[in-house]
Amino acid sequence: MLEVLGLAAGYGASRVLFDVNLRVEEGQVATLLGRNGMGKTTTVRAIMGLNPACGGKVAFRGAAVAGLAPERIARLGIGLVPEGRQVFPTLTVRENLVATAADRFARRNPWTLARIEALFPRLAERRDQLARTLSGGEQQMLAIGRALMTNPWLLVLDEATEGLAPVIRNEIWATLGALKAEGQAILVIDKNLSALKRLADRHHVLEKGRTVWAGDTAALEADGERVRGWLGV
Ligand SMILES: Nc1ncnc2c1ncn2[C@@H]1O[C@H](COP(=O)(O)OP(=O)(O)O)[C@@H](O)[C@H]1O
Ligand SMILES: [Mg+2]
Repeated sequence: MLEVLGLAAGYGASRVLFDVNLRVEEGQVATLLGRNGMGKTTTVRAIMGLNPACGGKVAFRGAAVAGLAPERIARLGIGLVPEGRQVFPTLTVRENLVATAADRFARRNPWTLARIEALFPRLAERRDQLARTLSGGEQQMLAIGRALMTNPWLLVLDEATEGLAPVIRNEIWATLGALKAEGQAILVIDKNLSALKRLADRHHVLEKGRTVWAGDTAALEADGERVRGWLGV
């Protein structure tokens, strides 16, 4: 579904990514792991065209996406839940959900407001509230719901449980498990290794802008000491 090969990118003259390699297969969950500042968010931004790549390849469902405008890449079916949520603060919950909604691929069971509200009942309770009045956890659910409403082939979550209470985190992990069970492909960036081991099929470790390790969950367990070294845990 998504293949990134030798990706290089940065900010102006400062290079941050040197050789990022990662793969997400249809119906699978993949992770991007690494300590703060290793280039995870920059990788996501480069995939989405928000930071132009200066080398390497990004292929999504067989098409090369490097150089396309961010809106075009999103329209190919990548739904981003960005770091820091970034909901539209002065729109209501429902307005946030419909603002970028689309069903471009005539999916079998497309996402609707009703389905999102069933997935996150708290959003149903708050549907007419302005997004800025929501708690952090509710804003996170809204950001996930907004991305799902674009009916993406691939859902990308950048630190979606960061700073949330354990009970809310668990709700989000359970939701991601349910989405996976429906066949949703997901790329997830997070620090909770034990939750990721339960959820994900494949893992990638970034160290200073390079993929230094990749493998499945069994390989990650087998290589635990080395991986924990890169993650600083
Ligand atoms: N807007 C920016 N301008 C310049 N450098 C940046 C910017 N955002 C991030 N960086 C730098 O890029 C590197 C990787 O950051 P980032 O991709 O956010 O890492 P991570 O998501 O893994 O924590 C860091 O050294 C960071 O300081
Ligand atoms: Mg980040």
